[in-house]
Amino acid sequence: MFYAQLLTLFPEFFDSPLYCSIPKRAIAAGIVNVEAIQIRDFATDKHHKVDDSPYGGGPGMLMKPEPVVASIRAAREKHPDTHVVMLTPSGTRFTQSKALEFTEKPGITLLCGRYEGFDERICDYVDEQISLGDYVLSGGEPAAMSVLDAVIRLLPDVLGSPESAVLDSFSEAGILDWPHYTRPEIFEGKRVPDVLLSGNHASIERWRREQSLLRSQRRK
Ligand code: ADE
Repeated sequence: MFYAQLLTLFPEFFDSPLYCSIPKRAIAAGIVNVEAIQIRDFATDKHHKVDDSPYGGGPGMLMKPEPVVASIRAAREKHPDTHVVMLTPSGTRFTQSKALEFTEKPGITLLCGRYEGFDERICDYVDEQISLGDYVLSGGEPAAMSVLDAVIRLLPDVLGSPESAVLDSFSEAGILDWPHYTRPEIFEGKRVPDVLLSGNHASIERWRREQSLLRSQRRK
């Protein structure tokens, strides 16, 4: 079974998204095991302090190295084969191929930060740093949930039809998905393209490929 360990100050953040739709089914089916680990439990001081102000001054607070590194060690102790990923806006951009790469590992540990970021020395204890995009979230949790969702749906037997994962946008070297239509045939005067109603599978396939390429060129 694939596993995900979430190192976080807000384990409750994950309660709702993990218990909806596809992640919920994957957990219920025993395909993935998800465990949220409270970083604060690894703070050894009286006040369970997990953050502190930056040396050199400046706004905000940083995640302190001691509790974070202790939580990473606990995660590695539980799963010595784990791949530890720090979520940070200064990481490498997350992609569909990275999601696929993660599914090939026995499991992942996602480290979420709060406040203005992590003490830089924590980076030495993780295997890689991932960013969701060029914007700053208030914490790593929504980024970790997105990574986890993208990984879960690619695990064997999670999606009803294995083709749906394969045919997804981006699966094919950054080629976007084609436009999709369902009933009704006419909605507020907008018609479903004739080719999709033609029953000619070769023409439909050609049209979809053309549309994918057009979209991919336009959006990039
Ligand atoms: N933490 C804060 N912002 C983030 C982002 N864009 N990606 C990953 N982790 C983050």
